[in-house]
Amino acid sequence: MKSSNLKEIIQGIPKAELHLHIEGSFEPELMFEIANRNNIPLAYDSIESLKKAYKFNNLQEFLDIYYIGAQVLINEQDFFDLTWAYLTKVHSENVVHVEIFFDPQTHTDRGVGFDVVINGIYKALEKGKQELGISYKLIMSYLRHLSEDSAFKTLEASLPFKNWIDGVGLDSSEVGNPPSKFEKVFKASSEQGYKLVAHAGEEGPSSYIWEALDLLKVVRIDHGNRCLDDEALVQRLLDEKIPLTLCPLSNVELKVIQKMEDHPVLKMLEKGILATIHSDDPAYFGGYMSENYYETAKALNLSTEQIMQLAINAFEASWLSDDEKKKHIKTVKNYFNSLVI
Ligand code: HPA
Ligand code: ZN
Repeated sequence: MKSSNLKEIIQGIPKAELHLHIEGSFEPELMFEIANRNNIPLAYDSIESLKKAYKFNNLQEFLDIYYIGAQVLINEQDFFDLTWAYLTKVHSENVVHVEIFFDPQTHTDRGVGFDVVINGIYKALEKGKQELGISYKLIMSYLRHLSEDSAFKTLEASLPFKNWIDGVGLDSSEVGNPPSKFEKVFKASSEQGYKLVAHAGEEGPSSYIWEALDLLKVVRIDHGNRCLDDEALVQRLLDEKIPLTLCPLSNVELKVIQKMEDHPVLKMLEKGILATIHSDDPAYFGGYMSENYYETAKALNLSTEQIMQLAINAFEASWLSDDEKKKHIKTVKNYFNSLVI
């Protein structure tokens, strides 16, 4: 397949994004604009010098910069603008459903109210649904480098907004902060009706994926790259059809893998794992959904069927109703059937 052809095919696929940190979609241009209007100095004097700093050897080096960038977000309008910019961008790539993370503690720890954060995000998501036809779910993610007590306080703060939040997740510095640290708060979150996911096996070992399943009782694993180290774990993922939300460009940029050709998604598909592709923090890792599909498909020489499988898997792995899933999967299949390759 010619690469221009591949790009066009990928562009046209109706896509679902299930692993996206809204703070990680904060493009430098918007960051400077919001920093200016809030009178907050940035440590970089230009967009170019900021972009030059986006070179990471591991997850922590990225997180250090990501939390600094988020500090300019103060008002409801800032969170609205951030979310709206993401939605209009992915709309141009034919993303029709999103399940996005936000990190309340990144903001509440700086004195920004939970209500300010969620009002801005929610209003943009609703506008996206009305005007762009993008359906959505919202996932509140606990920061795992902080204490479980802090996560409990976040859970408490979320309760007045329970109807707007579909699930909870677990992100930030993985190694040394295993899922077991958050067992109680995940149980309490589940009792409030939240669905559960967790980042596991990005930098951490496969035992963290077991813990996320057995102790936190998550329904989906974010990343999960390391599952291939453990055959029994692969079998468990297959038996229970546990989805993995993979983020290939993120994995390359954070040196989880050395090069895209090493990405485990092809092996996962061959084993029948419900593997899916997403963008994680696209403003930092050089690409949104289409680029993630494209770079992966190109490096691993994925077949059209495998690309279609990835797109179908994302709807399968989503929290849409069975009827909505069926409708989207039919659209994906019709799209591929209509292609003359
Ligand atoms: N991993 C863990 N935490 C994160 C990430 C990630 O890729 N992005 C934003 N928070
Ligand atoms: Zn992530």
